[in-house]
Amino acid sequence: MHCFINYKRVEKPLRIPNLEVEIGFGRGDFIVKLAKENPEKNFLGIELSGISLEKLLKRVKKEGLSNVFCTRVDAYWGFYLLFEDNYLENIYMNYPDPWFKKRHHKRRLTTPERLYIFAKKLKTFGEIRVRSDNYDFIEFTKETAETLECFEIEEGRLEVSEPLTKYEAKWLSMGRELYKLVLKKVREPKFVEHPRIEEVKELFPVKIPKVSVDKEKIQNTELKLGDKVYFKTFKVWEGEKGYLIESLLSEEGYYQKFFIEVKVKDDGIVVDVSPFSEVLRTRNLQKAIEKVAELLSS
Ligand SMILES: C[S@@+](CC[C@H](N)C(=O)[O-])C[C@H]1O[C@@H](n2cnc3c(N)ncnc32)[C@H](O)[C@@H]1O
Repeated sequence: MHCFINYKRVEKPLRIPNLEVEIGFGRGDFIVKLAKENPEKNFLGIELSGISLEKLLKRVKKEGLSNVFCTRVDAYWGFYLLFEDNYLENIYMNYPDPWFKKRHHKRRLTTPERLYIFAKKLKTFGEIRVRSDNYDFIEFTKETAETLECFEIEEGRLEVSEPLTKYEAKWLSMGRELYKLVLKKVREPKFVEHPRIEEVKELFPVKIPKVSVDKEKIQNTELKLGDKVYFKTFKVWEGEKGYLIESLLSEEGYYQKFFIEVKVKDDGIVVDVSPFSEVLRTRNLQKAIEKVAELLSS
């Protein structure tokens, strides 16, 4: 398997033995250190930043590491889509964005629905190890963890004797306080309502009888496809053989930007996702294709 995992295409659930995950690996110092010190284990980094991924890929290649993998996706959806329950050995979260303002706390990586998904995918006796320089974030995470009723919780200060990254060692030597929180899963978490999406094996094009295409009907529309599912179209481009519709689908907060292709043929019109758009194939994406076909036929 390649180091980079395309979560939209890879076969799920992911099968990588002895797997540990780092959420938000940034420069990659920590995951690379873990991988070098534990060649018998595998490590997957989940990151949103493309630059971080590029840096890690270069480093892994240069150092010839075969036990590091990475994917670019929001951590919640990465865990939700990629792993089966009780699969991961340990999870690491180092200095995640603390989102200081109260109104932004819902974006924190340790809100109940996120921590619930992380806990579900963790093996019993596996640990979520959090490091932060923000004590308010540690407290918030501890409180969330308590509500799930599935962890033994250990809290403390990070010590110089622990495996540290270059920056941590520097911060500690400067006298900065660094905190750690270890959440050991001892039973299954209490259920928390959480966002879901349904992936499908295949997306099917929709064929409709030939009509004259009215661009006004399909551009700049906003449609509700279901509970917390919204589909928006923007600009429509006309080409020689049909049209391309700039589209956005939001499913419970999972966003996809892509193009829908409308091919005008002699015997009818075919609506499909453009082959140039890399998408996660979901039930609602199929609905979006059907909706465009419906709009064209109306
Ligand atoms: C403050 S940096 C810390 C980076 C690194 N762990 C370290 O200790 O230097 C937080 C990192 O988490 C990533 N991140 C934030 N939210 C994320 C999410 N929901 N899913 C995946 N990565 C995320 C950011 O892109 C960023 O690289």
